[in-house]
Amino acid sequence: MRLWGRKFGRRRMLCVWLLLLAFMVVTLTLSDLLSRNQSPGRQVSGLPDRPLQRSSGLPPDVEIFLDSQDPALELGVDLSPLKSLQEDELLFVPSTQDANMPPHEKGIYKVVLPGTYKDEGDAVSPMSSEMDKAASLQEPDKDQDQAVLMKYGFNEVLSERISLHRRLPEARHAGCLQQHSRSLPSASIVVCFHDEAWSTLLRTVHSVLSTVPAQYLQEVLLVDDLSQHGHLKGVLSEYVSHLDGVRLIRSTKRLGVGGCRTLGATRAVGEVLVFMDSHCECHKGWLEPLLERVVQDRTRVVSPIIDVIDWQNLQYNATQWPVRGVFDWKLDFSWDFSNFPLPDQDQDFVAVQPLRSPVLGGEVVAMDRHFFHRLGAYDPGMLLWGVEQIELSIRVWSCGGTMEIVPCSRVAHLRRHHLPYRLPDQELLQRNKIRVAETWMDAYSKIFYRRDTLAHFIRQSERPNITERLQLKRSLGCRSFHWYLTSVYPQLYVPQDRAGLSGELYNIGTGGCADHVPQQGQKSRPMNIAPCSGTGSQHYDLNSEGEVRWGPTGAFCLDAKGESVVLSPCPTHTSTASTLQWKFIKLNGQLLHQQSQLCVEAVKEGGLTHKSQGEVKTNSRTDLFLRPCTVNPRQQWHFEQLVAPQGA
Ligand SMILES: *[C@@H]1O[C@H](CO)[C@@H](O)[C@H](O)[C@H]1NC(C)=O
Ligand SMILES: *[C@@H]1O[C@H](CO)[C@@H](O)[C@H](O)[C@H]1NC(C)=O
Repeated sequence: MRLWGRKFGRRRMLCVWLLLLAFMVVTLTLSDLLSRNQSPGRQVSGLPDRPLQRSSGLPPDVEIFLDSQDPALELGVDLSPLKSLQEDELLFVPSTQDANMPPHEKGIYKVVLPGTYKDEGDAVSPMSSEMDKAASLQEPDKDQDQAVLMKYGFNEVLSERISLHRRLPEARHAGCLQQHSRSLPSASIVVCFHDEAWSTLLRTVHSVLSTVPAQYLQEVLLVDDLSQHGHLKGVLSEYVSHLDGVRLIRSTKRLGVGGCRTLGATRAVGEVLVFMDSHCECHKGWLEPLLERVVQDRTRVVSPIIDVIDWQNLQYNATQWPVRGVFDWKLDFSWDFSNFPLPDQDQDFVAVQPLRSPVLGGEVVAMDRHFFHRLGAYDPGMLLWGVEQIELSIRVWSCGGTMEIVPCSRVAHLRRHHLPYRLPDQELLQRNKIRVAETWMDAYSKIFYRRDTLAHFIRQSERPNITERLQLKRSLGCRSFHWYLTSVYPQLYVPQDRAGLSGELYNIGTGGCADHVPQQGQKSRPMNIAPCSGTGSQHYDLNSEGEVRWGPTGAFCLDAKGESVVLSPCPTHTSTASTLQWKFIKLNGQLLHQQSQLCVEAVKEGGLTHKSQGEVKTNSRTDLFLRPCTVNPRQQWHFEQLVAPQGA
């Protein structure tokens, strides 16, 4: 019986492999055919010197951006099959997203990466992609709503029922409501979109048109980044042609966020550029406070407070103030509401006063058009999506500009559940991060690579071409990352990562690594032993204050609660509490708790049985406890460096 089962299993495996093989052969043949069809066409295509052309059959406000020879707009991803896409040609791309897969949180968005989801803070597994893609292709959509959710990343059915002209409730401070007297420059609002839903795209446009006084609105530039959904073709062109002051530009090449915004910027004529995501709703009077800050200082890059529209119920939720944009050592962006050294100023003043921010989110950003171009636009080497706002922010600060959030300006942004399209390359985020690390972080890039070892391995096998960006950096006279950290973003804890005192905390007795379990609603997280991940998610750093720090911002400290070893939030202002001080004795590998003089031991907790779905399971865990120091392999530890301190 068992033998038969195994045989059958093997046969099934064989079938799966054969299917996969067939799938790959078909894919290869198809792509070969497509590229063969492409290459002669490319040579013949006769518009090398005129990237922009008005096509005669279209409404006058629609431009088609044809294959550009400008390498600045080239994208490193091969999307040649899509390049020949014409207006009104609907290319069907089957959804490959698995509805069951929980999304992976990345800063403000969640990125759906099937098969790679573990717990929070984990790096993406490099090996899972192809198998999962093949598997999820065969799975039919579970139900209609779920399909719509997966298509757009939010409740589009509900959004369709909400007016394109809805008004947001007043959320500004009373001190913001006075009139602006001085004359302000004109603005070009650049809205890039790729397969955006009709309702959210048009609500964004109408919201801009109804909130911006005509004298400040140069134009709204809608830039279509090679959308494939039918409603964004002829119907949109027709709709836009009836809107005053709105122009539509189409790219025939997928540019990604940065490239698309740069394209919009090259076509814009307003003095100030406002880059806006394609699913926003503006508050009354949101633009004037931004323009005012820019006109006072043309090197200022500003953002409104980004309020939140819920992806499920489309409800508006005002964001609390003060807030600022930050990033961590994994180069993930987030909004930070804590940790302010707030001046002892009166609250009415604080409520209207712009606040400097180490980073600005990408949702809505305004800056002087000439300053944007002088600074080198968006990095053209950035792929599709992600981290471009961090790159821009470090560049702005390092090369002579400043960034701030203006609280009298508010724009609401639909925070999607996940990115509604599949990135062609799952390591794309890492590649973008590598560009940031290599271009801007100097020796501090090591700290990043230790916390994202996938990026480290990619970097070892391929060097990004950042020649032009380094030239730009030199010619602009940009300052070092050390300056940025000390002058702009001193709140970021800088790990020491000393050799032999940082890395994965390997336990000799169990052969596993120190890890922890996130606990909902609890500040402290119990420490345990888990298989060593090698991703950088288990990186600990014993610093010269005796703290053992963990986390992308180093915000968690190894701590003791009674006998239990836990991770607690590190104190932010006061000096290190004595319960947080540890000593590593290299000679025998003991990790000593200074206050109690006890050692960290991996203790097996067996025999906990519980019933789950009719099965009786034995749940044996290995947790970390403080025990009297003895010679015991379970008290022996070793810091494993995954990224060597020296070397390329
Ligand atoms: C609004 O945001 C706050 C915190 O940012 C959250 O606690 C609250 O639940 C949100 N309300 C709604 C209706 O989403
Ligand atoms: C890097 O890019 C520059 C210009 O963008 C080019 O001249 C150079 O040949 C490239 N280097 C490599 C190694 O590809």
